[in-house]
Amino acid sequence: MNAGILGLGRYVPDRILTNYDLEKMVDTSDEWIRTRTGIQERRIAGDDIETSDMAAEAAKEALEQSKLTAEDIDLLLVATVTPDYGFPSVACLVQEKIGAVNASAMDLSAACAGFMYGMVTAKQFIETGTYKNVLVIGAEKLSKITDWKDRNTAVLFGDGAGAAVIGPVSDNKGILSFELGSDGSGAKHLYQGEKYIYMNGREVFKFAVRRMGESSLSVIEKAGLTKEDVDYLVPHQANIRIMEASRQRLDLPEEKMAKTIEKYGNTSSSTIPIALYEAVQEEKVKDNDVVVLVGFGGGLTWGAVALRLGQ
Ligand code: UT7
Repeated sequence: MNAGILGLGRYVPDRILTNYDLEKMVDTSDEWIRTRTGIQERRIAGDDIETSDMAAEAAKEALEQSKLTAEDIDLLLVATVTPDYGFPSVACLVQEKIGAVNASAMDLSAACAGFMYGMVTAKQFIETGTYKNVLVIGAEKLSKITDWKDRNTAVLFGDGAGAAVIGPVSDNKGILSFELGSDGSGAKHLYQGEKYIYMNGREVFKFAVRRMGESSLSVIEKAGLTKEDVDYLVPHQANIRIMEASRQRLDLPEEKMAKTIEKYGNTSSSTIPIALYEAVQEEKVKDNDVVVLVGFGGGLTWGAVALRLGQ
């Protein structure tokens, strides 16, 4: 039995914060942000919207797409570094908000690689026959842990949520292969301190370029495929220069890479499901396409999945 995507959903707050808005807040410029990161604007959730609210909205849409109901969900996983509370988990809050009364629920902490960890966890439960339908969500309200006076980080992050219902699909569809990795020795390069995000941008940049490339190639090989078989790349949207390096490693033309960074910035665990959702909506990918999803983040962590779309 293979595990694959049955439905996708996403939620982004309405409020837009542009680079020009940021120019008034910190010593930066639209030109610097655009050329160094690829970001033009990002979404910021209001005080009345918490991580679990965004997660629940994305989840509802994913359920609708999958034609399942909340009661059909056996396991609910939320990847997040910005939970509403220390506990209970965002997953339990979402369970209540959507009525997933039959699900076990827990959060997963793997920073920006969290959605990859969630998908791979879902795959294990489904392929062993333990659970049938798993709802995996990446949801972040990074604005609440962003130091709006620190230009090194304030320009990068945004809020949003993406969700996927993962369930059984036919042979040779779904998740074909995966790779997960962690390197705790790099914890010092990207973490949340007392309140805010701290980042050593250059170190994370180097790590990201190396790991994104290597793990993309590794999942292609593990799936018994070659670079030529890949139809589309969905990289974690942290920096356009990192994304471009990954695309070039796979010899893919520009139009075969998902790019939502200019609109949403880096929304950590939710960038990959949001970007995949939009690629499907905009018909940039279709059933039977081979898609590589790849992410990296604080931990340090990384993860990739090779996926054949469709059921
Ligand atoms: O989800 C994972 C999260 N993190 C990442 O993926 C981050 C990976 N790293 C990056 O994306 C890049 O390292 C950054 C975008 C964070 C920084 O770009 P960079 O090309 O590595 O710039 P830099 O840190 O080497 O800084 C270059 C210059 C510095 O000035 P000096 O020392 O050359 O005078 C910085 O002070 O740019 C300055 N700078 C800024 N200038 C205007 C740093 N941030 C800004 C800013 N506006 N916002």
